[in-house]
Amino acid sequence: MTAAGAGPAALEITGLSAGYGPIRVLQDVTVSVAAKEIVSLLGPNGAGKTTTLLACSGMAKVSAGDIRLGGRSLLRLSPHVIARRRLAHIPGDRSLFPSLTVDEHLRLCARPGGLDVLELFPELKKRRNRRAGVLSGGEQQMLALGRALAADPQVLLVDEMSMGLAPVVVERLFSALREIAASSGLAVLMVEQHVHLALKYAQRGYVLAGGRVRTQGTAEELEERWPEIETSYLGR
Ligand SMILES: Nc1ncnc2c1ncn2[C@@H]1O[C@H](COP(=O)(O)OP(=O)(O)O)[C@@H](O)[C@H]1O
Ligand SMILES: [Mg+2]
Repeated sequence: MTAAGAGPAALEITGLSAGYGPIRVLQDVTVSVAAKEIVSLLGPNGAGKTTTLLACSGMAKVSAGDIRLGGRSLLRLSPHVIARRRLAHIPGDRSLFPSLTVDEHLRLCARPGGLDVLELFPELKKRRNRRAGVLSGGEQQMLALGRALAADPQVLLVDEMSMGLAPVVVERLFSALREIAASSGLAVLMVEQHVHLALKYAQRGYVLAGGRVRTQGTAEELEERWPEIETSYLGR
């Protein structure tokens, strides 16, 4: 099931239960993202947003439901094989190699058809030979995003891209993401703590709490309903 007006889902999570070892975090989570679409996962700390992304990348244990990329199930595939199916994941900690340079990161991940990252983020051009560990937070996030896009993904998962960054940098990163999704057909599922920021850049959103999807809608609907959503589902 996809949003009205959107194409077939690039990423389709249905009835997903997942967690870690014997711990079940998610229950019956259904989320879809179409090509060219940016979809936001919202909800309080501990809601299961990160776990949803980890399950897609094969890093959380799925006990029920399905996750399909371009119609093919990702269940029981290793993270490595899932990445080769053109699913990219930018974790909250960005997972850069501090001692590798910008160029080395990009060379490791570049694939034919991938984006020219230095074209997208000219800021990184001047830093090509710098090690990732000495870059500013904003430059590191540009590198993390650039590295993911250089691999020409079909679906991109992004966890808390704005974490610890100045608002002007955050807007720059999200605008870049929006342009790329619109022009390349990339489907983006992003986790974002800042609700208004998330709803500014996403077309749709899902609200998770306690491991379940409590409500969903277009960004406009969720923005309008937010005070009610906070009271009804987030206990605020
Ligand atoms: N590696 C793990 N092992 C066990 N429990 C975990 C692990 N990671 C997260 N959890 C638990 O799963 C729940 C959801 O966490 P998470 O998906 O990180 O939430 P969110 O990203 O929405 O803040 C939390 O209760 C958290 O304590
Ligand atoms: Mg999280």
